Amino acid sequence: MNQTENMIQAAFSQRINQVPRSFIRDILSVTNKPEIISFAGGLPNKDFFPIEEIKACTQKVLEQEGHQALQYSTTEGLPALREQICANYKKQGLKVSPNQVLITTGSQQALDLIGKVFIDKGDRVLIEEPAYLGAIQAMSMYEPEFYPVPLTNQGLNPFLLEETLIQKNIKLAYLVPNFQNPSGISYTEQRRAEVAELITKHNVLIIEDDPYGSIRFGEKAHHSLYYYAPEHTFMLGTFSKTVAPGFRIGWIVAPNQHYYEKLVTAKQAADLHSDIFSQRIISSFLSEYELENHIKKIIKAYKSQSEVMIQAMEEHFPSEASFTKPQGGMFCWVNMPSHFSAMKLFHEAIKQNVAFVPGVPFYIGKQDSNTFRLNFSCSTPEEIQEGIRRLSEAIKNNFT
Ligand SMILES: Cc1ncc(COP(=O)(O)O)c(C=O)c1O
Repeated sequence: MNQTENMIQAAFSQRINQVPRSFIRDILSVTNKPEIISFAGGLPNKDFFPIEEIKACTQKVLEQEGHQALQYSTTEGLPALREQICANYKKQGLKVSPNQVLITTGSQQALDLIGKVFIDKGDRVLIEEPAYLGAIQAMSMYEPEFYPVPLTNQGLNPFLLEETLIQKNIKLAYLVPNFQNPSGISYTEQRRAEVAELITKHNVLIIEDDPYGSIRFGEKAHHSLYYYAPEHTFMLGTFSKTVAPGFRIGWIVAPNQHYYEKLVTAKQAADLHSDIFSQRIISSFLSEYELENHIKKIIKAYKSQSEVMIQAMEEHFPSEASFTKPQGGMFCWVNMPSHFSAMKLFHEAIKQNVAFVPGVPFYIGKQDSNTFRLNFSCSTPEEIQEGIRRLSEAIKNNFT
């Protein structure tokens, strides 16, 4: 390193050097080329942004409450919106008070705030394997030790979970029980009850991150972990996948007022409050229109996109490939034989003009993996069929 490089390196906090870069953002410049069919992104389908409705709500907010919408506001968030969030939980049979709800700048900020308030350097955090990269990034800022527990198709294995809880003295568990990013896996009802029971028994805190729960293709909704372990669970929600991510509006339901107050303090220090103009527009959208009807349109499209993808994989992929068949959300997860390199496949696939995310960024400390993530929400059925056909060519080339 030369002198300038040394100076730059010395300027960084130890903390930032612990945080992995987002591989997904790094590959966007390659995957965004127009000739590439990309299953790499993780974006909701822009065709379902309710633009006309939002236009009407924005106008109404500006006309009727313009001064309040453009003024500073309270850290906790808009009371009406917090009540609407509680009313929605009530429909699911969950009793949540607005005093427990803190509006955040997306659920990504919720992860950061929980990290700030509850993680000291060296604290032990249990995560799913594979896990959502953005959560690993957010929590890495607070320098915990991560302990991954492999996900099965039913959710976390309770024996491995308990072993890890006991042996590693875990403080916090980060879980995505509905249509997980990246795997698309959803916990069975029984597994939810078992996981919540173990967490309660060992007095661990849960972050239950749930951006995809309402994008459910058919089966009856399962209970949340919060339902089984309300005193231990932070329940996270967001409007990113149901309304639009550009608003950056999410929330935390805190299990008690002591935790809530500290989260409010951390949020004050971070950004005073989340965008109040966005909060008022979303609140108006929720009172003027039926969110459930809007979500039904999203579900109809994603369900058929996922079915096309699964069918195409069944038709084209070699028999050695196995993949999840998600019942909601936006992702499929492919498992190849153990010697297979998803990283090598990525480079081969780009030559065939198709992209995906190799599994490696969703693990802690791996250099390569035999797994990869496919997003189906942003491609047409024709693109999905053609993309999977191209991908299967790349897989075959990679096998020989
Ligand atoms: C599991 C998970 N948690 C949190 C987020 C962040 O969402 P938000 O837009 O609410 O910050 C995402 C985004 O894709 C996600 O997949």
